[in-house]
Amino acid sequence: MDALRTAADAAMRNAYAPYSQFRVGAALLAVDGTIYAGCNVENSSYPVGTCAERNALGAAVAAGRTAFTALAIVTEAHTPTPPCGMCRQALVEFAPTLSVWSVGSVGAHAEWNLGDLLPAPFTGQSLRHA
Ligand code: THU
Repeated sequence: MDALRTAADAAMRNAYAPYSQFRVGAALLAVDGTIYAGCNVENSSYPVGTCAERNALGAAVAAGRTAFTALAIVTEAHTPTPPCGMCRQALVEFAPTLSVWSVGSVGAHAEWNLGDLLPAPFTGQSLRHA
């Protein structure tokens, strides 16, 4: 977990968040032990901005990883930040039982399971007709 947190922290320092000033770093642990990090990347056209978690996921998938065991999130908020709803949906596609760790600025941390954060998810199975 230390390596995952360190990777998320390093990514947070590169966050591009001039509008919210809310920097987020995320790091995903793939089943083969490799780690993929991302940060939030905001835009002057606000809805275009993307979250750290989905950017980490994109980096991992681009590298050929589609199975994950854990996610670390690092922010400068006092209270550990959970992933937003859109990121929960993006993550559940690949890792429905992902362990999600979040660390705040004063070291407080929280842990959830993605299955608890997003009960009754919409999945590929939901698209089946019969
Ligand atoms: N943000 C993330 O990167 N991840 C989340 O799960 C919640 C929000 C970013 C989006 C935006 O750049 C900033 O935090 C404020 O919402």
